[in-house]
Amino acid sequence: MFRYLPFFISLAAATNLYATHYDGNIYTLSLDSGNSLSITLSLKTCGDAPSWLSLDPSTRTLYCSDHSGNAVINGSLTSYSVGQHGRLTELAKTTDVGAAVHSVIYGGKHGKNGGSALTTFTLPLISDEGPLQILRYQMPQPGPKPQQDAPHPHQVILDPTGSFLLVPDLGADQVRVYAIDHHSGHLNACPALNYTAGSGPRHGIFWKSKPSHWAQAPVTMLYTVSELGGHFNAFSVSYASSGCLAFRETQSFVPYPGGQLPAGATPAELRMVGSSIYASIRFDQGFPPNDSLVTSAQLPNGTVKLSQITSSYGTVPRTFAINKKGTLVAIGDQASSNVAIVMRDPRSGELGDLVASLQVGEPGQASNSSTGLSSIIWEE
Ligand SMILES: *[C@@H]1O[C@H](CO)[C@@H](O)[C@H](O)[C@H]1NC(C)=O
Ligand SMILES: *[C@@H]1O[C@H](CO)[C@@H](O)[C@H](O)[C@H]1NC(C)=O
Ligand SMILES: *[C@@H]1O[C@H](CO)[C@@H](O)[C@H](O)[C@H]1NC(C)=O
Ligand SMILES: *[C@@H]1O[C@H](CO)[C@@H](O)[C@H](O)[C@H]1NC(C)=O
Ligand SMILES: *[C@@H]1O[C@H](CO)[C@@H](O)[C@H](O)[C@H]1NC(C)=O
Repeated sequence: MFRYLPFFISLAAATNLYATHYDGNIYTLSLDSGNSLSITLSLKTCGDAPSWLSLDPSTRTLYCSDHSGNAVINGSLTSYSVGQHGRLTELAKTTDVGAAVHSVIYGGKHGKNGGSALTTFTLPLISDEGPLQILRYQMPQPGPKPQQDAPHPHQVILDPTGSFLLVPDLGADQVRVYAIDHHSGHLNACPALNYTAGSGPRHGIFWKSKPSHWAQAPVTMLYTVSELGGHFNAFSVSYASSGCLAFRETQSFVPYPGGQLPAGATPAELRMVGSSIYASIRFDQGFPPNDSLVTSAQLPNGTVKLSQITSSYGTVPRTFAINKKGTLVAIGDQASSNVAIVMRDPRSGELGDLVASLQVGEPGQASNSSTGLSSIIWEE
């Protein structure tokens, strides 16, 4: 059973994880040394539709975004202190425009994207204190796909220097780029990274090469997955003298065996550890009744090659998170609403056997993205 990590058994204490569910709860999960996964606490909080968590380990503060807002109703952002055994105590709650599905902490500020806006807050969050900045998005005309009736920012990404925020906008077929004014925390718009119409970029990650004597200069890459076009894209990134970023596409391929996604299948989450890149694939039924995770290996020159497809051990893997040691992956399967813990070989990056799987809340409906489990993170 412990094919990949025989030493895993020696892991001492239990580890906590947090999951949000569209039933309006944050669940605290505990994975003990015997690989038993259980729900230890649940808290009705974070509005009607808790959708995303980010943890600031330095202050043990957890932030939860509420997706219930829309053009008329505001969503919310709530902060919690993380206590013993994963007990959460609400610190502050503020209303926010739009419906947030992702957030990031940058230089003492908090950036968060919503329905058709990006909102930033000064930290620590103060109840009912307004946002630092609201950037509202507009599109001259709808995109070619039905999901592109309006801007749909899906993530907020911080670059390796901590000086730029990027926002993949699934509706507008671009990754919006902002330079951070470190003094005020304000965001200044830079030229966006544009995609082919109908691509729908959803998530991205940066990678920066380690300094070495043989490399001429450090290389920075941006990798993205597009939900609607189903492509993985690689861009070499340079820091232009204009104070903005310049992108050069180096690769574009369908991250799936055979180079084609099954009908209706869409990439969702994207993560990178070491030289391995992982993408979750929803609705592919690659391992019936389950969907898949696809692993790619990064070569030293930044080129990426598909290497493995494994089960997501549930349906509609919207999010997943890798622990700090790189030995385990927690997969948040939205429709089946289970958290699956899978082995990861920290040397090869390969994913292995299922360690534990736990039902969290009621299963969602695969056809309704506002139901089921919405996110999962490790407390580390
Ligand atoms: C939503 O939030 C914005 C910005 O904080 C505020 O101006 C607006 O009044 C709020 N709307 C509602 C309905 O609460
Ligand atoms: C992307 O397209 C927008 C117009 O939609 C344009 O303003 C911007 O300069 C383009 N970005 C680049 C890098 O060319
Ligand atoms: C990167 O390395 C691989 C394998 O050595 C090679 O096939 C590929 O052409 C290289 N790519 C670039 C952009 O140099
Ligand atoms: C599907 O996932 C469940 C756990 O949720 C697991 O028990 C089952 O073996 C999986 N099947 C496949 C083919 O991956
Ligand atoms: C999707 O689920 C949400 C939450 O339960 C519900 O409010 C909404 O009406 C559902 N939408 C559809 C199209 O069924």
